[in-house]
Formats: sequence, C-alpha cells, structure tokens
Amino acid sequence: MVEVRALPTDPTAEVAVARALADRSERRDEHPALGDAVWRDLADPAPASVGFVAVAPTDPEPVGYLRAIGRTGDPLVVDFAMTVHPDHRDDAVPGRLLDAGIAHARTVGAARVALWVFGADVDTDALAAGRGLQVERELWQMRVPLPVAGPAPMPPGVTLRTFVPGADDADWLACNNRAFAADPDQGGWTAATLAGRLDEAWFDPAGLLVADDDGRMAGFCWTKVHAPVPPHEPHALGEIYVIGVDPADRGRGLGRALTVTGLDHLHHHGIAVGMLFVDASNTAAVGLYRALGFVTSRVDRCYGTGLA
Ligand SMILES: CC(C)(COP(=O)(O)OP(=O)(O)OC[C@H]1O[C@@H](n2cnc3c(N)ncnc32)[C@H](O)[C@@H]1OP(=O)(O)O)[C@@H](O)C(=O)NCCC(=O)NCCS
Repeated sequence: MVEVRALPTDPTAEVAVARALADRSERRDEHPALGDAVWRDLADPAPASVGFVAVAPTDPEPVGYLRAIGRTGDPLVVDFAMTVHPDHRDDAVPGRLLDAGIAHARTVGAARVALWVFGADVDTDALAAGRGLQVERELWQMRVPLPVAGPAPMPPGVTLRTFVPGADDADWLACNNRAFAADPDQGGWTAATLAGRLDEAWFDPAGLLVADDDGRMAGFCWTKVHAPVPPHEPHALGEIYVIGVDPADRGRGLGRALTVTGLDHLHHHGIAVGMLFVDASNTAAVGLYRALGFVTSRVDRCYGTGLA
C-alpha cells in the first residue's frame, strides 16, 4: 500500500528528495520534471507551501513527490508540481499525491488549485479530470532546425540594434507590457522583474535585439542560450525567450523579421536547434512559428479548479 506523507520543513533535505526523483523522471522523459517555481519556492518557501512524498513498501526511496506552492495574492491559489517514478505512474501514486495536495490546499483556505504538467497526455488529462480539474491553459514547446530559410526584411524605416542595459530599461518595459497586455505571465512586468532577469547569469545584451523605429522601440526579440543537459539534451539549445511587437506595429512583417534575426543570431553562435514556448491559443504567434518551420515538440498543460 502506498503511503503519502507531508515532509517536515527542511528545504535542504527536500531539495535532495525532489532532485533525485526529478533526475529519475528526466532520464525517462527527456525533459525537465519540475519547473523553476519549485526550486525558487524551496529556496524561499511561501507560507502555504509544503512538500509530499509517496512511499511504497517495495522501495527504500520515495516513488513520488509533489510540492504545493502558495501563490502570492488574494484569494490564495495553490499550485502543484509533481514528479512520479516511471514504474509507479500507472498505480495509485499520482492520484494519492494529488489528493494530498488538494486536501492541503483546502486546509490552508485556498480558493483555487492548479497543476502544471510538462509533457501532458491522456493519462494526465484523466488524472486531473478524475478530481474535477479542467485544462485551463496549454503551452507548446516548439522547435526548428537552424538556419531557417527565407529572407525577412525589416519594415521600411526600422533598424535593428542590441539592448543597452540601463538606457533601454524603461522603453523595453513599456513595449513589453503593451505587447503582452493580455498575457498573465509576460504582461505587467515591473522594473524589478526586468532587473532580476538582467541579473541572471545567462543574460547577454547581444542576444536581446531591439527594433528601433525612429527612436521608438517597436518590438524586440530576446534570445537565451541553454547549455547542453546530457543525456536528454546533448546539444545547446537556442531559445526565443520573449518576442513582442507593439500592437501599433503588428502585421507589417516586424514579428517575422525579429524572429528570423534572433534565430540567425543563435545559429551564428553554433546552435543547431531553435526552441520557444507559446500558448496554444496564440494564433498569431503559432501561425508565424509554423510558417518558419517550427513544430510542436512538447505539450504542457495547466489543470485547475476552484475549491468550493
Ligand atoms: C506574434 C507577434 C510577434 C507577430 O508580430 P507581427 O509583427 O504582427 O507579425 P508579422 O507581421 O511579421 O506576421 C508574420 C506572420 O505571423 C502570422 N500572423 C501574424 N498575425 C496573425 C494573426 N492575427 N492571425 C494569424 N496569423 C498571424 C502570419 O503567419 C504572418 O505571416 P504572413 O506574413 O504570411 O501573413 C505579435 O502578434 C505580438 O507581439 N504578439 C504579442 C506578444 C506575443 O504573443 N509574443 C509571442 C509569445 S510566444
């Protein structure tokens, strides 16, 4: 009989448990098992957060892990991230872990719960649906071999340059927040959000391209290089991290030109595959990426429900 236990508050020990199970899953699934939100929350836990493990009598090590993460805001939302040993995905472990997370969310008075699954499929759909969680968002990871074909000229009068930290911060924030006004994750960035990203070790101003229309920022393409993660990702990947065009400048070829230029920048740094994440409902962006040869390589789903 599988037993699910809440872990005592000991982030160092919990990181070790989560990392061991994530490594096991990643060897099978060839993609990360747990998102950055888990590691950020373990480093600085929110008050409503807690971890759970599933323990099977046949196994000396835990066979499943779920972290319930209290999202900042009112009313309280609890997010779940979960990884289960490949040999235990078809038994009671995923359901028992999710049940424990939902029970915890009720205890702390959460109004909603949400479970993000990387590499979602019919099994995860059924697991979620069995507990009343519906698909609320679908994110696609898309990839393309580099270089992409075809010219992509900048619209007349628009020139391309690289981002200048400090001098460009305010214009970039305004452009980003206009471009992503309807996006819950990428919209509404503050100076602090941007400063945090510019401080990341991977940030390279040469990889953040800015479209300049007579002194006005009309759009941008921010690239990010991912080092190889053997064995499942043996080569470096080049990501289009964020791309946005000011709503006033859409439909003039700027998005295509920025995407192609960003991918060319990555290719010139020896990268053979371009990658990005896009919301499946973003028809403009998906149309652009498909036209450039991108195909969907992974489907991530967010399953959620309100708690009565
Ligand atoms: C996606 C985005 C960058 C496209 O920029 P854009 O400058 O309008 O795009 P372009 O004019 O270069 O159009 C390129 C292609 O995009 C697609 N496209 C653009 N707008 C579209 C729309 N409303 N519906 C369907 N396809 C569309 C088409 O395939 C078009 O090809 P075509 O030239 O053969 O028609 C822009 O809409 C945007 O900034 N959106 C908000 C931010 C965002 O969603 N970023 C992507 C996050 S992954």
